[in-house]
Amino acid sequence: MRKITTKSALAAAVLFALPVCDAVETNSKQGTLLNENVQFCRATLDKAQLQLDDFRQAYTNPNKIPTSFSDGKVNFITPMGWTSGFVAGSFWYMYEHNQDQSWLNTAVEWTSALEDMRFNRKTHDVGFIMNNSFGNGVRLTGNKSYTPILVSTAQTLMERYNPKIGATFSWSWGVWEFPVIIDNMMNLELLFNASIATGDKTYYNAAVSHATVTMKHHFRDDFSSYHLVNYSRDTGLPVSKQTFQGITDDSSWSRGQAWGAYGYTMVYRYTKDEKFLNHARNIVNYILTHKNMPEDLVPYFDYNAPDDPEIHNYRDSSAASLLASGLLELATYVEKEEATRYRKAAMTMLRSLSSPEYLAEKGENGYFLLKQATGNYPAGKELNAALNYGDYYFLEALNRCKNII
Ligand code: GLY
Repeated sequence: MRKITTKSALAAAVLFALPVCDAVETNSKQGTLLNENVQFCRATLDKAQLQLDDFRQAYTNPNKIPTSFSDGKVNFITPMGWTSGFVAGSFWYMYEHNQDQSWLNTAVEWTSALEDMRFNRKTHDVGFIMNNSFGNGVRLTGNKSYTPILVSTAQTLMERYNPKIGATFSWSWGVWEFPVIIDNMMNLELLFNASIATGDKTYYNAAVSHATVTMKHHFRDDFSSYHLVNYSRDTGLPVSKQTFQGITDDSSWSRGQAWGAYGYTMVYRYTKDEKFLNHARNIVNYILTHKNMPEDLVPYFDYNAPDDPEIHNYRDSSAASLLASGLLELATYVEKEEATRYRKAAMTMLRSLSSPEYLAEKGENGYFLLKQATGNYPAGKELNAALNYGDYYFLEALNRCKNII
């Protein structure tokens, strides 16, 4: 495994709200290719809009949120569930694409239903819930009334921060003393945004500490990561490391690797600290060079699954969509050749996901977009399923591709 330590990254800031059309060079082979990618992403968003329109007509109660489609039926959650913000977030991405008032109305309605989640003290995932809904709302409309809601959510999340450990804990259930899952990297975005909104560095410092501690204790020498690290509140140190949704404690659950790659890229966006950028690059290098990564770059639910004859090798399209989105951002922080590698991988993922193998035909798949996602293999839940977060990151990646490439 080649460890990336060069400090060659460009520190160009990326504002996803702004189209960066200048980046499309039309007078070169490279430029033509980029332009083709942009056209492809626009066309795929147009196609996704037809299915998402059926989705919003079929599901009209924003307190009964479709989270997945598996075994031929739709599963719903309340706003308390960790995936409750992804539907509102998908509506925001559709509005970002088409700028249509009716999609804005739908996004606002589904976002407003989540307001009380700023006081949800049962999970670290208030970051996912509120940043994807209210956060996208602020980003796309500048609606100032959303900002205090995001800040009070960040205050709620800070109650889970332990200064001795230097991290926020994930779950409020289970046998662990202080469980931190790799997914929790994604919730740091809320803390960074709260710091910018208030000027209070406490949120920023907690996010940086969480990312630093996770970098130290979650990752193995090859830059794969454990899913869960349990810490002692007395010593501040890990007491055990294990999986929860992968096949074994030392395997590489593919969505977890993608949360890490995306998470450290996002942490670099806010900190401009090269150690986080290099960590993201090393995780991505691990993923893209893995011997069990399929040619279409849609991973199995665990990178180690194909080595075990007992394991049914389900794909996880959600791991691919969120990784594609993270790669498109990572590409904006590195020099040309490396950026091309990341964009190429992201486009391979997006083109695979847009093929009939993964992208549902209109009216099918419970009106979700992507098929072949894996929710929780060890629990036998949501296998060969559609997941609302897979769809959310698919739409995010397509918008990023449209705007950045
Ligand atoms: N955050 C839970 C999951 O990725 O399944």
